[in-house]
Amino acid sequence: MTPLRVDVATPSRTYVVTIGDGALEGLRASLDALKLPARRFVASSPTVWRFHGAYLARALGPVEPILVPDGERYKQLATVSRIYDALLETHADRASTLIAFGGGVIGDMAGFAAATYLRGIPLVQAPTTLLAQVDAAVGGKVGVNHPSGKNLIGAFYQPHAVVVDPAVLGTLPRREFRAGLYEVIKYGMTSSAELFDRVARDRRAIFERDPQALTPVIAESCRIKAAVVSQDERESGARRILNFGHTAGHAIEAVTRYRRFRHGEAVGYGMLVAADLAAARGALAEADRKALAALIASLGPLPPIADISRTQVVAAIKHDKKVIDGTLHFILPTAVGAATVVDDVGEKELKDALKRVGFAK
Ligand SMILES: NC(=O)c1ccc[n+]([C@@H]2O[C@H](COP(=O)([O-])OP(=O)(O)OC[C@H]3O[C@@H](n4cnc5c(N)ncnc54)[C@H](O)[C@@H]3O)[C@@H](O)[C@H]2O)c1
Ligand SMILES: [Zn+2]
Repeated sequence: MTPLRVDVATPSRTYVVTIGDGALEGLRASLDALKLPARRFVASSPTVWRFHGAYLARALGPVEPILVPDGERYKQLATVSRIYDALLETHADRASTLIAFGGGVIGDMAGFAAATYLRGIPLVQAPTTLLAQVDAAVGGKVGVNHPSGKNLIGAFYQPHAVVVDPAVLGTLPRREFRAGLYEVIKYGMTSSAELFDRVARDRRAIFERDPQALTPVIAESCRIKAAVVSQDERESGARRILNFGHTAGHAIEAVTRYRRFRHGEAVGYGMLVAADLAAARGALAEADRKALAALIASLGPLPPIADISRTQVVAAIKHDKKVIDGTLHFILPTAVGAATVVDDVGEKELKDALKRVGFAK
């Protein structure tokens, strides 16, 4: 299979996402073709490196990786500092390229390090989780968490290239894999009925991580993200549509202190809440709401919510709204493959939707 290419054209940089089984094997050639600086550094995690370090080293040539932990709680400035330390120790200069090889946590941290080290060195994203392959690696959002909230410190810094190789997903724990699939469903529901139907149809092969089934799903997701990011690099308008399921999703994560849910799982519930709200308003046909609920259910059970108070979820949504820009934007699906942004969702209708989805009083 020849790799698929998706162009991302933003005001700050134009670059290519290459997607294909074995795409990492061509990494050195792609970086050379882009004339990226020849001193190449890799930031990764011990877990990812243990599974796939040899594969990357074969593709890239001898490399001493910078290994930092990749749990969400390590996504903080202190860990980024360790990347700076390693770069300084080896005298990395402006003529250096940093390759982020890991999940979204590594991608966000290494991306932030690349954005800030010597005021910016070239960055290549080589994502190794499904979530990072379909979402985090494309679009240029990089950064870390702050004790008072997620992703509060960061920058927009587009990579010079993104290389997506589904072969590395073979070792991903099933729960992490599923978490990424909810984001794929998000793209399908908001932007592509074809992608939505494909996930429903090829679900088994996708779960088996059959590259024939997986590659087109990842590529279509990247295409949708790339199109949106190209229109609205800094999320002032069009890019908001990708927050479908994230308004309630973020609140559900915050209320459970980021412990119970993988991000994608919380988005799974968030999509159910938004779809319920849309259906209650008559903006979404009941059949389409049911199709979404059925597809989400077909991936397997989500962590329980019957003990999570909807009052707390609403409070967390209001808190987010204050931190962001004072307006509560809600992305409501209007059909399978289409969505709209509204800013007039009231507290009562939100609570009613949370109740119908199964949240406690
Ligand atoms: N920048 C963006 O636009 C953007 C978008 C979405 C999410 N994110 C961020 O991404 C992060 C979540 O990313 P994630 O879900 O990839 O989590 P993650 O990076 O923590 O990875 C999840 C787990 O999978 C392991 N892992 C990674 N690749 C593996 C592989 N190939 N085989 C086996 N194990 C592997 C990791 O060691 C980790 O334990 C969050 O911090 C979120 O804020 C950023
Ligand atoms: Zn998300």
